Amino acid sequence: MTAPLTRSLDARYYTDPAIFEQEMQGLLSRTWQFGGHVQQIPEVGDYFTFDVAGQSLFAIRGRDEVVRVFYNVCQHRAHELVSGTGRTRVVVCPYHQWSYELSGGLRAGPNIKSVEGFERDKICLTSVRCEDFHGFLFVNLDNDAAPMDDWYPGVRAEIAAYVPHIAELAPLEWVDAPERCNWKVSIENYSECYHCPSNHPTFAEGVVKPETYDIQPDAGGGYVLRHVTECQCHEKMTYPIDMSVPHAGDYQSWFLWPMFSFQCYPGNVLNTYHWRAHDVDNCTVWRGWFTPQGAESEVIRNLSLQDRNTTVAEDITLVESVHRGLKSRGYVPGPLVLDPNCGVMSEHSIAKLQHWMREAVSG
Ligand code: FES
Ligand SMILES: [Fe+2]
Repeated sequence: MTAPLTRSLDARYYTDPAIFEQEMQGLLSRTWQFGGHVQQIPEVGDYFTFDVAGQSLFAIRGRDEVVRVFYNVCQHRAHELVSGTGRTRVVVCPYHQWSYELSGGLRAGPNIKSVEGFERDKICLTSVRCEDFHGFLFVNLDNDAAPMDDWYPGVRAEIAAYVPHIAELAPLEWVDAPERCNWKVSIENYSECYHCPSNHPTFAEGVVKPETYDIQPDAGGGYVLRHVTECQCHEKMTYPIDMSVPHAGDYQSWFLWPMFSFQCYPGNVLNTYHWRAHDVDNCTVWRGWFTPQGAESEVIRNLSLQDRNTTVAEDITLVESVHRGLKSRGYVPGPLVLDPNCGVMSEHSIAKLQHWMREAVSG
């Protein structure tokens, strides 16, 4: 008896606004989402805003140096508190000038003393669960969520081994690429390399040996997809590599379900992907590039530019075409190519992702 085929996810998962809404209220509000890097706010009072699952949030560094994340909303009559990035001594609401400590407590407000029974100490900004993962700040709107080390077992230590200087890193550059596709189309495209040999000549010739590319969906456990590959001979690399550092010759990436990935290029070069879903038909993917203390680096700038002009651009064309195709009346979800040996020409990782995607919507 032959095993039944595993078919790709029904098109409605990518095109139905009701499913998108369900994901926003459920999955994206209950999983760890990347907010930013702590080195974006190195000084007391520094803050930046960001959106998760349709909610405006901000991260701010307190007088005790602790980075906290709050919903970006005043506890008086709901004006938003801050926008963009900045530095402040106290958080002052623009509407009626209520002011909050950097740790979230209400500090003062015009004429509040005249209100009998007004308990200033009871009023505080609503905080959001956050974790510092080697300087990368993640949030989870679910206060009861399991910690990141439970979701992504082993990853913290593995990354530290690949990027020994990770504690010194700060962002050099963010590159954003808006994509007219459902976020899951983009995530799936990121998570397989079945399309790489035919679509990514630079990546496949300049960085990795595509024939060795592999994603073992169950290796290491948790909600993680680890991509491993051998690299092209290091003479072919477009930048110098200090081979005395452990893992200097290796490539690995760690995709953390649902919307983030750490990548380590040869030479222990860390870069990241993260996504935001805007609506059922649109998302943005960001590439993050890092150097020690965020110091200028021509090598990293060139890598980033080359990546934007090749792999990222190539992927945009692919995912936008797929998203249009998912709306075609002529599309019947095809069988995934599941090679029992995995390998670059297999879609095991897609089967895993689609399992998580189905689970998130249908329980
Ligand atoms: S809404 Fe913020 S002070 Fe009134
Ligand atoms: Fe790709």
